[in-house]
Amino acid sequence: MNNNNTQDLINRDQQYVWHPYASASQPPVCFPVARASGVHLELEDGRQLIDGMSSWWACIHGYNHPTLNEAAKNQLDNMSHVMFGGLTHAPAITLCERLVALTPVGLNKVFLADSGSVSVEVAIKMAFQYWIAKGQSQRNRLLTVKNGYHGDTFSAMSVCDPINGMHHMFKGVMAEHLFVDAPPLGFNRPLQAEDLLALEHALGEHHQTISAVIIEPIVQGAGGMRFYNPAYLKAVRDLCDQYDILLIVDEIATGFGRTGKLFACEHAGISPDIMCLGKAISGGYMTLAATLCNDKVIEGIDSSEAGVLMHGPTFMGNPLACAVANASLDVLLASNWQQRIAELEIIMTNELNVVASLNQVNDVRVLGAIGVIELKKPVDMKQIQPAFVEKGVWVRPFGKLVYIMPPFIITDDQLTILCRAIVDVVREITLA
Ligand SMILES: Cc1ncc(COP(=O)(O)O)c(C=O)c1O
Repeated sequence: MNNNNTQDLINRDQQYVWHPYASASQPPVCFPVARASGVHLELEDGRQLIDGMSSWWACIHGYNHPTLNEAAKNQLDNMSHVMFGGLTHAPAITLCERLVALTPVGLNKVFLADSGSVSVEVAIKMAFQYWIAKGQSQRNRLLTVKNGYHGDTFSAMSVCDPINGMHHMFKGVMAEHLFVDAPPLGFNRPLQAEDLLALEHALGEHHQTISAVIIEPIVQGAGGMRFYNPAYLKAVRDLCDQYDILLIVDEIATGFGRTGKLFACEHAGISPDIMCLGKAISGGYMTLAATLCNDKVIEGIDSSEAGVLMHGPTFMGNPLACAVANASLDVLLASNWQQRIAELEIIMTNELNVVASLNQVNDVRVLGAIGVIELKKPVDMKQIQPAFVEKGVWVRPFGKLVYIMPPFIITDDQLTILCRAIVDVVREITLA
């Protein structure tokens, strides 16, 4: 235990560091982490927390994984980075080859990017460049659904939910796109004809100015932790085909098994024109993302004035990240991940549903390795965050949502402890 060190770190953190979605002048009190291993985060003061967040969906194999560590160390001895313009290397080539093989049929080319938001920027740029090449530069809008989240850079932000995404704050500086109501809530709720009316109407009226539809498949993450029926995604694909509009599917949160399928698109049996991957692609070890596309998009961009995709980040194809991503795929594909996620789903369903009828709870929903308790009012973060730490778990709610997406390696007992800690904390919340 080192409480002096903890306080010193907190003081310096508050003085110099700006945290996500936080004030710089009134900084939050964050918990310093000393190390992490398996499913545990170890705080500087010695406390061990069971991780319920996989560090924002990414660390699917837990922390300090021997195979991923070894891949990083080996790669470090060869090269940690080389530029990707004019040079290439085995880690990136192997990763791209494997992503093409694993993702839905038709996605044949991979553009490596350095974060999820950048992969969304690249996807949007691909779509715009495609239509400019086709002589249809008036197709300069995107269509999306409310409650979406696609990242924090400007184009990504412009397709986030208009309310959660703070569009009013950036009005005038952010592109304005078309929004229709979010898909109805419920993975198992059958799709009804009226669920598609707004989408059909918007596409019918505006298709000549729309380049692409962008959507998170099956699970809307940071925009509301909402699950929807795969038939909706299938209908989106069909409508895009009908109106000759590109479909961008953002699998950054859902990819690599989280929903029970390797990619959430598989629930609907569709292949998008463009797909974004990130987060768990490197097992959460380091920042890496990818934008995949099909031959239609490639041919379109080939025929543009530039003849090339106008994008190329400095750290594109970082060998260290690619080597770890390959190791992460090895670990995932060698495991019985599908069965394990089905088991995690059952435990979370049984454990979290015990609060479903409480006054303060609006809904409990579970899909794959994602468990969500939606409350009736937003949580008080200053109270709830230390309450979880006191109970020995790491859970980071937002708004009305207390949710978990633990590492796939979590044991039954650890997941039960995690769920019961959440249940205890939720029980203590009052509506007043
Ligand atoms: C669906 C989705 N798209 C894009 C992003 C942005 O990714 P990043 O934070 O790596 O930029 C996120 C991050 O939470 C996400 O959940």
